[in-house]
Amino acid sequence: MFQSGALEGSKTEQYAELAEQARGLLSGERDRIANAANLSALVFHALPQLNWVGFYFHDGNELVVGPFQGHPACVRIALGRGVCGTAAVTRQTQRVADVDAFPGHIPCDSASRSELVMPLYRGDELIGVFDLDSPVRDRFDADDQLGLEAIAAIFMDSLG
Ligand code: SME
Repeated sequence: MFQSGALEGSKTEQYAELAEQARGLLSGERDRIANAANLSALVFHALPQLNWVGFYFHDGNELVVGPFQGHPACVRIALGRGVCGTAAVTRQTQRVADVDAFPGHIPCDSASRSELVMPLYRGDELIGVFDLDSPVRDRFDADDQLGLEAIAAIFMDSLG
């Protein structure tokens, strides 16, 4: 039975521990929905000051919400729209300190103040995005970005 322990030490050490837990959680399983669901739950409960953690998947046309933790969310996001659609088309992590200052931000949960969105690609194929929202402005720093990009990579590796 998988057990997630409390994260301890420096931020870098905590993200290393979280990555270890994520690898254990996804190990031996390739199902995209199962792994996205469990990873959302792991991250949502492991990290403080989050109100939404989850996935949007590319259906060949737009982004469609997948497994997540938090309040119900917008279902479909066009490529290029919002923070998620921007991460998808630019292929770059979007770290937004103040969502109200991001042109075109899509407010799914009115509590959200800052956001981190990682694009998920297999080669040139867009799989989706991994999205975290916080009720705290400027919640995510460069260490959070690195740590969560590593988590996103573990998710992609798990799909085989
Ligand atoms: N705020 C996102 C939409 C998704 S929700 O935050 C869950 C965006 O602007 O793309």
